Formats: sequence, C-alpha cells, structure tokens
Amino acid sequence: MGDATIAGRARAVPTVRGWPLLGSAVPLVRDPLGFFGSLRSRGPVVTIRIGPQTMYVVNDPALVRQVLVDQAHSFDKGRQYDKLRPWWGNGLANSEGDFHRRQRRLMQPAFHRRQIAAYVPAMREVAEERIGAWPSGRTIALDEELYALTLSMVLRNLFAVAVEERHLATLQAALPVILDGVLWRCLDTTELLEKLPLPANRRFAAALADMHTTVDTVIARHAGGGADLLTMLREARDPDTGEAMSPQQVHDEVITVLMTGAETTRSTLSWVCHELGRHPEMQRRVQAEVDDVLAGQPVQADQLDRLPYTRSVITETLRAYPVVWLLTRRALTDVRLGPFRIPAGAAVCYVPHAVQHDPAWYPDPDRFDPDRFSTGQTSPAGCPASRRPRDTFVAFGAGIHSCIGEPLAWAQAITILATLAQRWTLTPAPHTRVRPAARMLLLPDHLPLVLHPRHTTTH
Ligand code: HEM
Repeated sequence: MGDATIAGRARAVPTVRGWPLLGSAVPLVRDPLGFFGSLRSRGPVVTIRIGPQTMYVVNDPALVRQVLVDQAHSFDKGRQYDKLRPWWGNGLANSEGDFHRRQRRLMQPAFHRRQIAAYVPAMREVAEERIGAWPSGRTIALDEELYALTLSMVLRNLFAVAVEERHLATLQAALPVILDGVLWRCLDTTELLEKLPLPANRRFAAALADMHTTVDTVIARHAGGGADLLTMLREARDPDTGEAMSPQQVHDEVITVLMTGAETTRSTLSWVCHELGRHPEMQRRVQAEVDDVLAGQPVQADQLDRLPYTRSVITETLRAYPVVWLLTRRALTDVRLGPFRIPAGAAVCYVPHAVQHDPAWYPDPDRFDPDRFSTGQTSPAGCPASRRPRDTFVAFGAGIHSCIGEPLAWAQAITILATLAQRWTLTPAPHTRVRPAARMLLLPDHLPLVLHPRHTTTH
C-alpha cells in the first residue's frame, strides 16, 4: 500500500452490509472494539453505515498515514470535533488550518522536552503526596484515585500552585459528564436529543458551566512568572507578528489541556495497573528496575529515560489499550487513498485499537507482552530490534495534529508509575472482572485493586 497516490481507475470501496435504517449501529454499540477489529479483514478501506451516515473506515496503516500525514491538508477533523468546538472552545485540539498552525507554533515550546524537565518536580510532589496517602491493605477504586492524581498533576503543571481541593472536585465531577455528553451528541446524527429538556442535557449544561467558572477563577488568581504552562501560554509570542494569545484563547487552551491531559494519562495508567496486578512477574521487574535506578529516592527528571522496562510496560499498554481508540476526519476534496477514491465531504475514521491488534505486526495481539518493545525506545517508531513499520503504532496520532502533549504524558506516566512501584504492590480485588469501556476514551469499566505496602523507600 506504500504506492498510495497512484493514478488510474479507482477501485470500489467494499461496503459492510448492515440492518435496514440502522446500518451497523447495533454491533457497533454492542461491541465497538470487536466490530472495528472485524473490519480489518474486509479490506484496507471499507464503508459502514451508522443510521443515515456513511463512514469510510481506513484499516491499512500505510493509508492511515496518508490521511494523517501525506494528505493531511485534504482532511479536517470532522464531526467529532465540530461537536466539541461549541463547548470546549477553539483550543488547539479543535482548531484547523492557519489558525491551528499558528497556535501549534505558539504552544510547542511549552511541551518541549527541556520544558518538561522543569515540570517534573511538581509532578513528583503531587505523586508523592497522593500515592503516599492511599490506604494500605484495602480494596480501592484505583481508576478514581488515578483520576484525582493526574488531574491535580495537570493543574499543578498548568498553574504552578496547588489548586484548592474543591476546584479539583468540581472538575473531577464535571469532565467525565462533558466527555459523555459530547459522545452521544456525536452519535446522534439527528441532533434532536440535545435539544430536548432531558435530565442528561441539564447535567451536561451544569457541568460545562462548572468547568468554565472554575477555570476562569483559577486563571484570575494565577500569579504568573513561574515555570508553569499557563505562564508559557501567556508569554508566548508569534515569531512573525509578535502577537500574544487573547485572554479568550488562553482560556480555551487551558480547557484543552485539562480535557486532553488528565483522562488520557489516567486511563493509560489504569490499564497499566490492571495488567501489573494480573502479571506479578512483570510488576516485580518494574519494581526491581525502579529500586535499582531510584535507590529509594524520589524520581528525578534525568531518570525518566533510564527505566526502559517501565517504559516498555507503558508502551505495550498504549498498544493494547490506546486511550484514543477511534478518531474521525472529513475529506475536504475528492481524495485518492491508494486505489480508492474518497469523495469530498465523506466522513472518515481510523481505529488505533484495530491497527494495533493486527496479528501481522503484533502476533497474539491480545497477549500483554511489554517485551515487544524491549529496546526501551520512547515509541516503537525507529526501533532497530523490530521490523514493524512505525505506522503500526498510532496511539499518539501522527502528522500535523499528532499529540503535542506526548512528552508530558510520558513524564507524567513514568513519574506516577515509578512512585507507585516504590511504595505499593498491586493485586486484583477477588471476584472482579475488569472490562474495557470504549466510550469517547477507552477506559476500564471499573478498577478495584488491593494495595500492599513495600517499605523500600528511604525518603
Ligand atoms: C497517554 C496519554 C495521551 C494519549 C494516548 C494521547 C493521544 C492523542 C492523540 C491520538 C491525538 C491526536 C488526535 C487527532 O489526530 O485528532 C492527540 C492530540 C492532542 N493531545 Fe494528546 N494524548 C495523551 C496525552 C496528552 C496530554 C498529557 C496532553 C496535554 C497536556 C495532550 C494534549 C493534546 C492536544 C492539545 C492534542 C491536539 C493536537 C493538535 O491537534 O495539534 N495529550 N492526543
């Protein structure tokens, strides 16, 4: 498929037949991951119908790259983001074209590797505080604890000061309601449900109001001048025009970082903890590596790259459970993808979960095996031990809209996992079965784990 822009007659895109009126809505709702996984064998690109809407599903990793990188300017982000924009504002994740390019350039320095090192002390402080306070020997909802932890970490990195617990609690309650509300607004192509006076719509409106008010309050109190994200955003100047971001744009970018920066890492770490609980030998390897490198002291920025097995566990988690499991695009013009023609206006999607479960690249894909990535690279791209093309790992996207927060996410994830591994051994709560819930993000449906103290830290 590398020869994806060949001219000549287009081949017909295979269509997956669904039910009258509903199309493939039923299997999609019943088992979204299984449904999209099953489409891989139907062809490099297939069309499905969800109610009245036709969607082009791109299965071949080389063609996904065409969409994200080589022909990225022929697509915008599509319906998923149209639905987000009115509520999240026009932050980086929701913007397009020249405006997106400008914002990306302005924000890039705040996510540079050098800058990330400056955020690590605050990350470590939050991780030590929260993880140290977890109760010993009891079953806890670890996914909820990790949410409070990643959210306070993002807030500390954004604002340099500890945000009050009541603001944290407001945001922790509001953000999932907003994500869920946006999800079903994306799915309801009639756009009727969102206009009805339903309790769910009232909850959604209240959660949005809470989020915006809390963010305004915290921004208003921000002192500035620190090594924090908000200071970076406020001080950023366009190199061509010298212009700063407007206060509204700063607000929208703060919302973007909140919406993208906490749930993603908490979901990834939830799956990491789930797998380590099920695989004591892997957990012991992580603990041994962390003990060896950290020698009982809190994690330092320069140690984050010296934990290759810990990193492989996180990479394998991102492969097996890519938190952003499905993404949409929309063709702006007629586009040629390999031998297929995608008409202007078509809804297009790709499914990192399906791409990363292809047995051609990941034998026995349902097996959790960090040694697939045992070279200790940040991502499998360019991994010399592997002949896997880099397009087969798309957990952070690719191209102009790839995850700007990836270095921050790695620093958060390793800081939290190393701190946790120093203090606790995790075991699954008896008689529980954890299942994936593929909603806007791919989360465990619940995560009861028991924490056993290790007593190896000296700090
Ligand atoms: C494990 C953690 C994370 C994963 C798996 C992840 C994944 C992704 C993916 C797949 C995209 C591409 C979306 C698309 O192509 O439409 C993306 C974009 C983005 N992510 Fe992340 N992300 C993570 C953490 C973060 C963090 C910590 C931040 C910031 C604090 C962040 C901020 C963003 C932003 C702003 C975009 C939009 C970039 C643009 O359109 O230019 N992400 N992320």
